[in-house]
Amino acid sequence: KRVFNSSSALHSLIGTQVLFIFILCILRVNSCTEPRRPYRFASAQQGEVEAGTRRKMKRLLSFQRYCHASRLLRGLVPHTPGSLHLLDDDYLGQAAHMLSKVGKWNFDIFLFDRLTNGNSLVTLMCHLFNVYGLVHHFQLDMVKLHRFLGMVQEDYHSQNPYHNAVHAADVTQAMYCYLKEPKLAEQLSPLDVFLGLMAAATHDVDHPGVNQPFLIKTRHHLASLYQNTSVLESHHWRSTVGMLRESRLLSHLPADMQDMEQQLGSLILATDISRQNEFLSTFREHLDNQDLDLQLASHRHFILQIALKCADVCNPCRFWELSKQWSERVCEEFYRQGDLERKFDFEISPQCNQQADSVPAIQIGNNYRFISYIVEPLFEEWLRFTEPSPLSQNMMGHLYKNKARWSRLRYAHTPSDTQTHSHAEEPRGGGGEGGDIS
Ligand SMILES: *[C@@H]1O[C@H](CO)[C@@H](O)[C@H](O)[C@H]1NC(C)=O
Repeated sequence: KRVFNSSSALHSLIGTQVLFIFILCILRVNSCTEPRRPYRFASAQQGEVEAGTRRKMKRLLSFQRYCHASRLLRGLVPHTPGSLHLLDDDYLGQAAHMLSKVGKWNFDIFLFDRLTNGNSLVTLMCHLFNVYGLVHHFQLDMVKLHRFLGMVQEDYHSQNPYHNAVHAADVTQAMYCYLKEPKLAEQLSPLDVFLGLMAAATHDVDHPGVNQPFLIKTRHHLASLYQNTSVLESHHWRSTVGMLRESRLLSHLPADMQDMEQQLGSLILATDISRQNEFLSTFREHLDNQDLDLQLASHRHFILQIALKCADVCNPCRFWELSKQWSERVCEEFYRQGDLERKFDFEISPQCNQQADSVPAIQIGNNYRFISYIVEPLFEEWLRFTEPSPLSQNMMGHLYKNKARWSRLRYAHTPSDTQTHSHAEEPRGGGGEGGDIS
């Protein structure tokens, strides 16, 4: 009798669990069949369609245009997971699961961004700060940290197809993978890690979605402020310093704050693609002479600069599906700049003409050139530096495969169009002209 009772109790218990799991499944299926759109992106795009007046263009180019509205609201609108819909628990569970594999090169940042409801940058940075014990080491105030990261994420323009907070999160994830390289990991101080992650997260903050030549020819005030050199990068850095000071994140640290700001600047400014050759030849020289000494803070700083440069342009080293998405996004951003240039009678920049005869050929040509003249030379040296690590070999594998794929596409798209073909063949040098996506 006793056995019977307990087994029926067990049955009803199992029954309840099955029912519970069944309900969970329904909820899950519902949530999966309706993948949430990145809604901020969608509504911003709609706004973009209406653009067309001079006023709108001015607005587009007025940096930190959200500043007044959003800074005021920042204290009022809760951005915490608690305010999300009930079903988001499930998303956040999946996001948490993804974080357990954040050091893997095939990490899908687009998926992670959807699962975190557009908070990939904040979520990723908080996680990595905890992984490295940086909160404890620098005695950071979690509220200030959250506030600072929230400001950074929000100051990325979500309507930029490429230079948005997801790109920043992607670069941060890549940077984390590089910081973990055996050659580097043991030598890095907490300050190195802190600066490396911070620079990655902030390196494009408040990017307007147009490039430096555009700012110079439209006589944007930032171009004159920074005297036509590293205009965007300087702005990303100074914006970051502004937010650091506003959030008072580091205000409790001793007076070497200035030095931290300078180091952050030197890392962010290294992402200026027009300084590519300068960095590449110094890196090559060090490797040829085998004189890198990672005990020296200055050498570690140089390697952090290189690592950030690699992270910034690593899209072609990701597996094809991710890599292709990034290419499409950067092209879309170029086209939007081209549309602005057309509208306001400026000469259309080489990679920005959506009305050219063969858009795929141009797009492919740009990708191919960008890989051949910017990405490949840099990663070849990085491979050498890591002596070569499994990750570096993995990245080179993707790079060569993706390059071959673009190359095949190029020939498929230009069977008779010899003009476009020879144009695409022509080297553009390592400058920022060809495929400036930093
Ligand atoms: C920046 O470029 C603009 C346009 O070419 C030029 O008029 C201006 O003098 C330049 N400013 C500096 C500081 O070089």
